[in-house]
Amino acid sequence: MAPAKKPRVRHYLQFRDLSRTEYEHLFARTRWIKDRFKRYQRYWPLEDRTLAMIFEKQSTRTRLSFEAGMHQLGGTAIFINTRDSQLGRGEPVEDAAQVISRMCDLVMIRTFEQEIIERFAGSSRVPVINGLTNEYHPCQILADVYTFIEQRGSIRGKTVAWIGDSNNVCNTWLQAAELFDFNVHVSTPPGYEIEPERAGVHGTHFEEFADPMKAAKGAHLVTTDVWTSMGFEAENAARKRDFEDWQVDPEMMKAARKDALFMHCLPAHRGEEVAAKVIDGRQSVVWDEAENRLHTQKALIEFLLLGKVKSK
Ligand code: CP
Ligand code: NVA
Repeated sequence: MAPAKKPRVRHYLQFRDLSRTEYEHLFARTRWIKDRFKRYQRYWPLEDRTLAMIFEKQSTRTRLSFEAGMHQLGGTAIFINTRDSQLGRGEPVEDAAQVISRMCDLVMIRTFEQEIIERFAGSSRVPVINGLTNEYHPCQILADVYTFIEQRGSIRGKTVAWIGDSNNVCNTWLQAAELFDFNVHVSTPPGYEIEPERAGVHGTHFEEFADPMKAAKGAHLVTTDVWTSMGFEAENAARKRDFEDWQVDPEMMKAARKDALFMHCLPAHRGEEVAAKVIDGRQSVVWDEAENRLHTQKALIEFLLLGKVKSK
């Protein structure tokens, strides 16, 4: 008898790891899970299941949303700071993956190079979720696309203006644009342009603009992020100079559509990448966006552990 085939473990290491149909399923499940949760109806499909959360960089939203989300699904989450674990003393990532994935049912990792999470996933028996790397932040854009749809309906054919650094969040927007068929107008200072290969995109769904005002023109959504991402702190002073003209301010929001939304993954620096009047203004949906990290990730966890659960 031929040996039984090992079932393929699904990971979520970058945005394009799921298909459009799977995202549509996740969004339907998010609506169901969110609605039930808001009505105080218990949904505990993951009793006795454990999520290991490995952090090599700081976090507020990611840690909290995964920990609270796992608890709300009936399971448990364990926080591991690499500094306090053997990973911080040089234990090979592959060895750690072998051990952690025999004790836990799911792993979420926030680290530096994408390569680290890929190596971990390569030795893991259970699904691995990218909680942010230097290259990507898929859980963030999962929540952002959901938030856009919740507020405005389909994102297909729409224009998203990305103002600022071509970082992990930007790269992930570019992958989402190819999957959902919308356009990203990107404006970065010279020297900080997109690297399509690093972003993992073909270049069919974004356009670059030297002038951020032109990128914002006619956009349905304007979004930005910090000028200096975690791990790049040594460049902080130079970046503050280079990005000075890349602040999303009320004038830039005026160039966008009247009903344009403003998003920011947070944490934000008022007076740097965004003016207080914008992030605290009427077009900003940053708090809904942050809350939706919780609901969308619960749907993601459910999908990775239980497959396509039907909404009753
Ligand atoms: N947006 C986001 O990932 O926030 P944290 O760094 O607080 O997790
Ligand atoms: N680009 C930012 C996102 C933080 C959530 C960083 O990597 O620090």
